[in-house]
Amino acid sequence: MLINFLLKLNDLDIEVLRYIISNVRRGKEYVLYRNIQSRTRAPQKKLDESLAKLTRLRILVRHPSNPEYYRPTFRGVNVYAIHVLIRKGVIKEILDKLGVGKESEVYLAKRENDEYAVVKFHRIGFTSFKRASIMRDYGIYFQRYGWIYKSIVSAEREYIALNELSKLDCLVPKPYGYAVNAVVTQYIEGVELYKIKDLESPTSVLMDILATIRTAYRDAGIVHGDLSEYNVMVSIDHTERGYIIDWPQWVYRDHESAEILLRRDVEYIVRYFRRRYNIKINFEVAYQYVTGVIDHFEKTS
Ligand SMILES: Nc1ncnc2c1ncn2[C@@H]1O[C@H](COP(=O)(O)OP(=O)(O)OP(=O)(O)O)[C@@H](O)[C@H]1O
Ligand SMILES: [Mg+2]
Repeated sequence: MLINFLLKLNDLDIEVLRYIISNVRRGKEYVLYRNIQSRTRAPQKKLDESLAKLTRLRILVRHPSNPEYYRPTFRGVNVYAIHVLIRKGVIKEILDKLGVGKESEVYLAKRENDEYAVVKFHRIGFTSFKRASIMRDYGIYFQRYGWIYKSIVSAEREYIALNELSKLDCLVPKPYGYAVNAVVTQYIEGVELYKIKDLESPTSVLMDILATIRTAYRDAGIVHGDLSEYNVMVSIDHTERGYIIDWPQWVYRDHESAEILLRRDVEYIVRYFRRRYNIKINFEVAYQYVTGVIDHFEKTS
């Protein structure tokens, strides 16, 4: 458990980690021993103990050919993010792992008021191609940055979108805060749309999703860009509501790929409800609805 790693760290360990991660944020993957020393001003013996411990816990790793250099691991970044989130009062404690996605690890957490929350640790890696459009937008230099840097950018992006959307009438998890590569949001007690065999009111869940796409597009200028039955959570407390999750790859309405992405988002959702629930909605009509050309539409059967 991540919290067990955090509990092993003393103030100097945290200070070392904080400094190394602040360098990653500025695009420097590895940090030189001498710089850590001059920054923390710790006695050499104490600093060596700290670095040995952080390396043993695999919170830091040394450069394979130049052991004077250190960089954080994903574990290190996650542990530091929890430290910050607790210190800032965003969460009180971190609980079980809810799941591992292609580009994240998601944990349940508790807030000060005992409400549940979700902590999503972004973890961009070799296997992820879907963020290609972000990579391009950040320019060629972005390609050179490490996976941890990209994961920090990914978390910031997701937080920005959720923050904008939750001010509007959108069904998305409400964001509570973020730190480094971790975004904390409302816990949606529910089931992913693709796992549900029989919705009681599929039409209203579909309308929830289209209404959120529409408000995001028209009022915030935001296109999700990776929408499918995998990124919709259906709340199951009393009424079924469709929440759109997983926003880091969003683009603005004026982005060169926005129209293609918006069309694809709408198409995937409309197609899913057609196949699974036999709801016959014309794609072009749904697209006109989300872009605001029309304000209401009827199902075609
Ligand atoms: N706010 C939330 N409330 C409840 N569960 C959530 C929430 N956010 C994420 N989850 C759970 O975590 C899973 C992964 O989340 P998300 O889709 O945001 O990350 P991801 O890494 O992009 O996943 P993938 O790459 O598999 O699509 C979801 O399928 C869902 O089970
Ligand atoms: Mg997802």
